[in-house]
Amino acid sequence: MFPMSEMINIEAESPPRSDSPSSACDSAFNIGTPVTPSSTLFSEDLVNLLRDVSNDQFILVTGGLGFIGSHTTLELLKAGYHVIAIDNLSNAYESVSERIQSLASQYHVERGTLMPTLKHYNHDYQDTDALTSLLKAYQIPSWGLPRSRIVGVVHFAAYKAVEESIKQPLKYYSNNVCGLVGFVRTLENFGIKTFIFSSSATVYGTLACSNIPLREELCVHKPESFEIHEGVWETSQPGSIGITNPYGRTKWMCEAILADIAASDPDWTIVALRYFNPIGCDSSGLLGEDPRSIPTNLLPVIVKVMTGQYSELSMFGSDWDTVDGTAVRDFIHVTDLAQGHIAALDSAIKGKLRENFRTFNLGTGNGHSVLEVVGTMQTASQMALPHKAVDRRAGDVGYCVAAADRSSDELQWSAKKTLADACTDICHFLKISGLTN
Ligand code: UD1
Repeated sequence: MFPMSEMINIEAESPPRSDSPSSACDSAFNIGTPVTPSSTLFSEDLVNLLRDVSNDQFILVTGGLGFIGSHTTLELLKAGYHVIAIDNLSNAYESVSERIQSLASQYHVERGTLMPTLKHYNHDYQDTDALTSLLKAYQIPSWGLPRSRIVGVVHFAAYKAVEESIKQPLKYYSNNVCGLVGFVRTLENFGIKTFIFSSSATVYGTLACSNIPLREELCVHKPESFEIHEGVWETSQPGSIGITNPYGRTKWMCEAILADIAASDPDWTIVALRYFNPIGCDSSGLLGEDPRSIPTNLLPVIVKVMTGQYSELSMFGSDWDTVDGTAVRDFIHVTDLAQGHIAALDSAIKGKLRENFRTFNLGTGNGHSVLEVVGTMQTASQMALPHKAVDRRAGDVGYCVAAADRSSDELQWSAKKTLADACTDICHFLKISGLTN
């Protein structure tokens, strides 16, 4: 898809005022403007290329400047979608938007295709007044049901630190769960009913101690029958099994709420994407995982060791029932993960999903142990990474690996990159950022 937008600048803006229809948003795109005769503007090839496109598709991305949000925003722009990113910058930096813009522009210049619009707004996704003003600017005038030039939403904005969620559960339930309810209600008022939700493999709870790949049917929101072995069928009942922390429960609750919304109104199309362990960064080295908060995830901690900020890595647990005793995870390159969102959005927009609420794992289907990650990063960086085994971390699980069939069968998406690719890209990012030699 190649939208016929103008070459657009990126701007951080206050939300457009609801009483000013000729806001910056509208200047980016003029509905109803007569098309200039194509022969005067484009070569024949380009005209053919653009003949089928919809020039009107904006995707709203919340948390669009964070780690996964920024990579997904970039992939959306590459795929030709106009993007409106909102981010309160609580765990991201504003400069990220310029990098996204520059990488996407370079991509389109190299292909001779047109660069879609990227807009970003620095407000909280829960700021209903700001959101309402913004959505008004993208409304399509209609006498009947509300319509919008925003054809889909990808919702990343949420808190995600497990330990913090144990200490401050209300902060998590308020932002992640109550925030979602208010957000979805506002979207509904504007007729925006295609929604991709950033969920997590954490919804599988202690099933991730069973040493089996986790399939979507193991965590459901209505009874679901599935073939567990050839000819042997089981029925899963709605509920969660052993989710170990409030953060994880917020993800499960949000999924359940979204499933209920979809069941109540067939106009909604909702996808919950269950991320396994996203790592790596864009191969340009210009986008990376750059959180404001103290990192607790494995790769960001390893980076702290590589940059000399931490003296060594503590590996939590060496007595798991795994190949080397350290825990096993399904590490997925963030660019693959981002592309999984495009596949989900594409299926949702085109009405290709089997049901109007569907969950998908985004993982590779392959597990790697913590020790293997250390070894792969040592090879990629040519650095020795001091590490020692310590006790298990509270709430950890031993073996969290995706069954990747559903996303491959139904979304025609599967991960392409390896753990080694991710480590190489992180090294590149650190060099470019001047954090390592
Ligand atoms: C964690 C969360 C998960 C969340 C995800 C978000 C828990 C129990 N789960 O997943 O709900 O969706 O982050 O990204 O916290 N490790 C070390 N040393 C470290 C850091 C991590 O050995 O300094 C180990 C962990 O014990 C684990 C593996 O590395 O075995 C991966 O850890 P992490 O990156 O934090 O992800 P998860 O625990 O899988």
